[in-house]
Amino acid sequence: MNVTKAEMIITAGLSSQFPVHDMPEIAFAGKSNVGKSSLLNAMLNRKALARTSSQPGKTQTINFYNVQDTYMFVDLPGYGYAKVSKTDRERWGKLIEGYLEKREQLKKIILLIDIRHEVGNNDKMMYDWIKHYHNEVIVVATKMDKIKRSQVQKHLSMIRKGLNLMPEDKLVGFSSETKQGKEELWKIIEEIQEM
Ligand code: GTP
Ligand code: MG
Repeated sequence: MNVTKAEMIITAGLSSQFPVHDMPEIAFAGKSNVGKSSLLNAMLNRKALARTSSQPGKTQTINFYNVQDTYMFVDLPGYGYAKVSKTDRERWGKLIEGYLEKREQLKKIILLIDIRHEVGNNDKMMYDWIKHYHNEVIVVATKMDKIKRSQVQKHLSMIRKGLNLMPEDKLVGFSSETKQGKEELWKIIEEIQEM
């Protein structure tokens, strides 16, 4: 898709703030600092529409972006950030759960994993959870530019094994720096129209 229009609709800290609309939603989930907001910017041809930071825990709210009046992209707050208080973690859990479980217009969930890192328990839980509710998981291995090209396949199969991916689950290598994987991910997102 050639994105010429993308705008932030709302940063929601409460489910009552989720916007009302009838576009399909695509949500981006993953550990803090994995590159969710950066991927969103790369997909939307924007430098800083979604706020990014080298400090984990940047995105704390659920942020909705209208993309070309066709899709709503949803930037989820990252998990696994140690410096978060128990109260905040609980608030996070409720917010995400409420969203992922009940949101009717949610059509695809994209789970991001850092291509350099081992799959963590939080990642597995998130994968199982998405699988349970939505059946299809799209996994994106981020920061592909950080490893040698010759190592990419090895790391991708480690992620496949680590998450115990099913043959039907899609796995895409991605870099927000080089925009590798962008076309492939757009193709997968655009399959929604045919569903
Ligand atoms: P939270 O909002 O804290 O959950 O993090 P996030 O998942 O939104 O991560 P964010 O996009 O803010 O990126 C975290 C850091 O990783 C930033 O310093 C980014 O510049 C860097 N980063 C993200 N994607 C890439 C990538 O593809 N390649 C490289 N080299 N760095 C990246
Ligand atoms: Mg973020």
